[in-house]
Amino acid sequence: MSVKVFLNEGEIPRQWYNLAADLPSPLQPPLGPDGNPISPDMLAPVFPMNLIEQEVSQSRWIKIPDEVLNLLYRWRPSPLHRAVYLEKALDTPARIYYKNESLSPPGSHKPNTAVAQAWYNKTFGIKRLTTETGAGQWGSALAFACSLLGLECKVFMVRISFDQKPFRKIMMQTWNADCVASPSKETNAGREILAATPDTPGSLGIAISEAVEAAVTDKSGETRYSLGSVLNHVLLHQTVIGLEAKKQLEMFGEKKPDVVIGCAGGGSNFAGLAFPFVNDKINGAQIEIIPVEPASCPTMTRAPFVYDHGDTAKMTPLLAMYSLGHAFIPPPIHAGGLRYHGMAPLVSQAIVEGLLTPQAMVQNECYQAAVTFARTEGIIIAPETSHAVAAVIREAKKAKEEKKQKVILFNLSGHGMMDLAGYDAFFQGKLQDYVLPEEDIKKSLSAIAGYPKPSANKSGKW
Ligand SMILES: Cc1ncc(COP(=O)(O)O)c(C=O)c1O
Repeated sequence: MSVKVFLNEGEIPRQWYNLAADLPSPLQPPLGPDGNPISPDMLAPVFPMNLIEQEVSQSRWIKIPDEVLNLLYRWRPSPLHRAVYLEKALDTPARIYYKNESLSPPGSHKPNTAVAQAWYNKTFGIKRLTTETGAGQWGSALAFACSLLGLECKVFMVRISFDQKPFRKIMMQTWNADCVASPSKETNAGREILAATPDTPGSLGIAISEAVEAAVTDKSGETRYSLGSVLNHVLLHQTVIGLEAKKQLEMFGEKKPDVVIGCAGGGSNFAGLAFPFVNDKINGAQIEIIPVEPASCPTMTRAPFVYDHGDTAKMTPLLAMYSLGHAFIPPPIHAGGLRYHGMAPLVSQAIVEGLLTPQAMVQNECYQAAVTFARTEGIIIAPETSHAVAAVIREAKKAKEEKKQKVILFNLSGHGMMDLAGYDAFFQGKLQDYVLPEEDIKKSLSAIAGYPKPSANKSGKW
């Protein structure tokens, strides 16, 4: 039996898929400080105009420039595997498939957008990019992309991950990027947070504030900020994953998946795999589509749909999204890339529509799933990815109980070779399962009590 299928380079998608064109209820616009929708030129100090155009585009298909395809060819198309050894161990009638995004040079899906963003910035005349990173996967992906394109790169890495994952910093250095722990003393946002809470573990929200500040205060005009998730253009660039997976499932003889699963921090790897299938669902296919988050940072499962900032220092516009509040500092779990207070507006609107069914998982179940996966399929996955695998195992067990031959597809978003400290803590029984208390959610949401409210538009079809 075939355990993986490849596409050749000629079969790589030539266009990205934009879900904004097909959502039954429209996305709500980002708002400026005065509560009015922002215009594209207000984002110009932060992003190059060619990416801003993508951010607001309503076109269903957006051409991938040949130069970006040439960059993607270095590791794409990625294989689709059938997890026969995991299926056997679980004794499930389900057929489980995974898209292996861990084979890119930095080890995750993140370079799919990093090379595109670096290319668009370079084409626009930008010389230097700033960014944040949680677990270090995004920072190393952008460092990699900048080194391919000859751009300078500055990365603000969330303190807790900086301490837990020192090798990520060395990877970034190897690709010629400068990486500092966030909060840092290099920005006003960082200095203010350090003065108030000197021993903070940091958060993605804080690191975003620092990176945006570092970009917009550079007087040369040659620096822009690059975001690794959340925004429409980032999710767009990731859709090569799902478009390839569709072709590969057909090569395995499958008509469609019954269940599609991805872990979700800001939403980009989940969206990359799932959005082409969300399109099928909108057009009548029966598919359960599950984004999975940590129970300690329950944005999709317990937070409200609100207007909120994407960062702690309130430098970004207000986005219509599920959010725990921009000041929320998630507990220091090992899946650093899932410690984000908000969720991509496109994923959020699809949840409002009822097209997605989010789930939350605690750490120990995720690490147990990761160990089972390593001992069956062989790959040591990233702690973020373990959330998807935990949900896959639950679905495979359910299929066994229901005696159903379900087709389960998930995104293996990255490997965990730089994240072994979390595995060590798990083996030593030191990991805590933390379910966020309701009072903590209420407290952090009080910061956005007076903000404008998005309308919860939905077609009522799902
Ligand atoms: C391997 C991996 N998976 C998932 C994520 C979560 O990000 P996103 O939701 O944007 O895919 C990250 C973020 O750092 C990651 O490194």
